[in-house]
Amino acid sequence: MEKLMRKFFLFLSNNKFFTKLAKKYGLRFGAARFVAGEQIAQATDTIRRLNKHDLVVTLDHLGEFVSDEKEARERTEQCVKAIEAIAEENLDSQLSLKMTSMGLDISRELVMENMRKILEAGKKHNVFVTIDMEDYERCQATIDIFEELKKDYDGLGTVLQAYLYRTVDDLQHLNQYNPNLRLVKGAYKESPEVAYPNKKDVDENFKKIIKMHLENGNYTAVATHDDAMIEYTKELVKEKGYSKDQFEFQMLYGIRNELQDQLVKEGYTVRVYVPYGNDWYGYFMRRLAERPANVAFVLKGILKK
Ligand code: FDA
Repeated sequence: MEKLMRKFFLFLSNNKFFTKLAKKYGLRFGAARFVAGEQIAQATDTIRRLNKHDLVVTLDHLGEFVSDEKEARERTEQCVKAIEAIAEENLDSQLSLKMTSMGLDISRELVMENMRKILEAGKKHNVFVTIDMEDYERCQATIDIFEELKKDYDGLGTVLQAYLYRTVDDLQHLNQYNPNLRLVKGAYKESPEVAYPNKKDVDENFKKIIKMHLENGNYTAVATHDDAMIEYTKELVKEKGYSKDQFEFQMLYGIRNELQDQLVKEGYTVRVYVPYGNDWYGYFMRRLAERPANVAFVLKGILKK
């Protein structure tokens, strides 16, 4: 049943018709639990509140799978504005983005031009930028662009997904840049030809890449809500004596808030991924796919209205 629901929500997550409908009707149906708001001012309020609780942030201007050049340019401007807002208000926040929002599916020229604009703003205001990893089809292009840009922009990171067979090789290959990488399990619907179909194997590979990246001496962002993976990381860093400055935990806004606070109390860096903007539909569907209990939560919210 759980597998079926996961498939269903992942199917909905990139359905064009529902995406359009959701954009038109705004932040409804419980998405507000996972999304800070549609405007940058709401997002900066949220960041300020989180920073007060000693949580650091990566701000995500929601958007993906853009096929129109004008829209990709607008989204680029919004990312630049987000960086400026972070700097102006002196917030402790980085920026995350999806390159299909910046024109990855339109042309290499366009996405490079847009990414350079954002990274110039990041460099100017000292705001670190992470390129989220999208589906398998875009994985190689994402890594290629990351490598090209990394030569010019130090404040750039990306994400590797434990569910892909190729990830261990990618991690070793990227080691030459000593990159700050976010490690995740992976959120898209992928074929067993490219990704481990069983959770057990994904978890094992997740542990493996956490260990490898730390051993390589690189900054490691362990992005998960899974107690087992968090415990594994804590034990490993204790055993090997890694400094708390070499890694951080990352979690999504609205998920496991108590755990976030507890880790901060224990002295760990915890970064909250805060999405905002009107293109919240695909993101929201992936959160529902991850955990059917969230569906019950959302339904309760609707019934209360
Ligand atoms: P898993 O899904 O195995 O869940 C373990 C436990 O965590 C659950 O039993 C539950 O208790 C809790 N939990 C998990 N998800 C929950 C939810 N939605 N609501 C409530 N509780 C939940 N993916 C990707 O492909 N590309 C990317 O760039 C990113 N970026 C990213 C950034 C950050 C900061 C995070 C935390 C995650 C991502 N992801 C991602 C998503 C990631 O790949 C993965 O889908 C989710 O983190 C869920 O996997 P977990 O590791 O949390 O464990």
